[in-house]
Amino acid sequence: MDNIVFNNGKLKFLDQTLLPNEERYIEPKCKEDYFNAIKTLQVRGAPAIGIFAAYAMALIDGDKAELKEYLDSARPTAVNLSWATARMLKAYNDGKELIDEAVEIHNEDIEMCRKISEYGLSLLNDGDGILTHCNAGALATSKYGTGLGPLLLGKEKGYNFKVYTDETRPLLQGARLTSYELEKAGIDVTLICDNMASIVMKQGKINAVLVGADRIAANGDTANKIGTSGVAILAKHYGIPFYVLAPYSTVDFNCKSGDDIVIEERDGDEIKNMFYQKPTALPETKCFNPAFDVTDNELITAIITDKGIVRAPYDKNLKEILND
Ligand code: MRU
Repeated sequence: MDNIVFNNGKLKFLDQTLLPNEERYIEPKCKEDYFNAIKTLQVRGAPAIGIFAAYAMALIDGDKAELKEYLDSARPTAVNLSWATARMLKAYNDGKELIDEAVEIHNEDIEMCRKISEYGLSLLNDGDGILTHCNAGALATSKYGTGLGPLLLGKEKGYNFKVYTDETRPLLQGARLTSYELEKAGIDVTLICDNMASIVMKQGKINAVLVGADRIAANGDTANKIGTSGVAILAKHYGIPFYVLAPYSTVDFNCKSGDDIVIEERDGDEIKNMFYQKPTALPETKCFNPAFDVTDNELITAIITDKGIVRAPYDKNLKEILND
């Protein structure tokens, strides 16, 4: 499933706000179309918005420094966005062919996701139960994904995982996107509400938690989709490994700790007035619907990058593996 397609000099993207009910591709025409697609989450997921913005930098005429600033302001937390636009601006200043650079960023992401998936898969066993939060699959990247990468690659290699996906309030990326993506890949997926993570862990259904990241600080503090830290706390309590999977472009050594990460605030209307008038998952997606759960404590077992598996102490080991 391709979320961003560049063909014959034209770019189109899969509108993720319409999923899982409609698969529609849109061709952005002007800088506002690119900005709005990122802002409204038609294109979302940290690596995917970086790739998309790289194409915008190549395809939209005008002052490239201003364009970078404009695109970056669409979403502040995912560092891959400003990382990609900075790389494109440098390519422009160096007199490079911009579309080639954008295609390179896109292809590199496919390669990075593949490596992350291989490292991640090496930590899992056939038949494992996996919990994931939000959507860190092919839709959020280029191919395979980060958090979902080991599952999609594992499926190709004949592994059978049993995946539980948190619905991920308020925008339901777990329900609308992860369950959709895994169903399409033929992976066994069960949708749960966010407040059911504890009970599936307590019932022994989960062997590992896999999530993506939006920005990783130098000390290993990680910004992920809202609700992820609660899942980490639960995993720690139940002694379940909690893995964060992300490419090197998600690590921001300018942020010493998570306190330096700007957290995006979105319109409260998303909580009050979105979804629930339409189905939020495919008809064949199973639902597990307990009414209560048990809550407890936190930590990250390892950060899985395209360069390898990083464990604590993260300040030393992230630098070492990423050669910063
Ligand atoms: O707000 P979103 O849908 O862009 O959030 C996406 C996530 O939180 C992903 O888990 C994260 O960007 C990592 S993507 C591989």
